[in-house]
Amino acid sequence: MNRNQHTMDELPTVESMHLVTSTDLNHHGTLYAGRMAEWVVEVGFLTSRAALRCSPDHLVCLRIHEMDFRRRVEKGASLRLRGEVVYVGRTSITIHVEAAPFQPDGSEVTATDALLTYVHITEGVATPHGLQAAPPQGERLRRWWERATAAHQAR
Ligand SMILES: CC(C)(COP(=O)(O)OP(=O)(O)OC[C@H]1O[C@@H](n2cnc3c(N)ncnc32)[C@H](O)[C@@H]1OP(=O)(O)O)[C@@H](O)C(=O)NCCC(=O)NCCS
Repeated sequence: MNRNQHTMDELPTVESMHLVTSTDLNHHGTLYAGRMAEWVVEVGFLTSRAALRCSPDHLVCLRIHEMDFRRRVEKGASLRLRGEVVYVGRTSITIHVEAAPFQPDGSEVTATDALLTYVHITEGVATPHGLQAAPPQGERLRRWWERATAAHQAR
């Protein structure tokens, strides 16, 4: 399979799950933003690696564009995070990460949305990652592709 013939929605997604315990809480007794940010950056990194199929030595996080904490997450929650590729540049790749407490009935309400960019490096310098992918077809990812594209064009 030629990995350059994909649209972005066909690239691998990565999911992680975390049980929110007392060590993850802030002074309000709900999930601490710093812990959520750590988990978001991690799943973004894993998603980038899965898409680029590169060694971790060749990948760094360049930018957290945005991270919205829209709903609090309670202690004891099973938090599911999902990373999806929404922009593929020459040396960079941008990931949308969504986090939602997992409900046994399958219903999910997003607690956090984030957009992060990682760069492929060789000896500390940005180098081409070799992946090409057409813009996503699905409407939901397309919205994030537009935001990521605008962010890259604005720099
Ligand atoms: C990542 C790093 C090597 C990039 O070096 P650089 O000289 O800024 O690289 P470039 O200017 O060539 O940019 C590399 C890519 O990032 C993109 N980029 C750079 N700044 C950007 C920004 N603010 N927003 C979006 N994209 C950006 C560029 O457009 C380019 O993408 P493309 O090749 O896909 O078009 C360098 O910034 C670095 O080492 N940063 C530290 C990373 C780190 O330590 N991360 C852990 C944080 S604790």
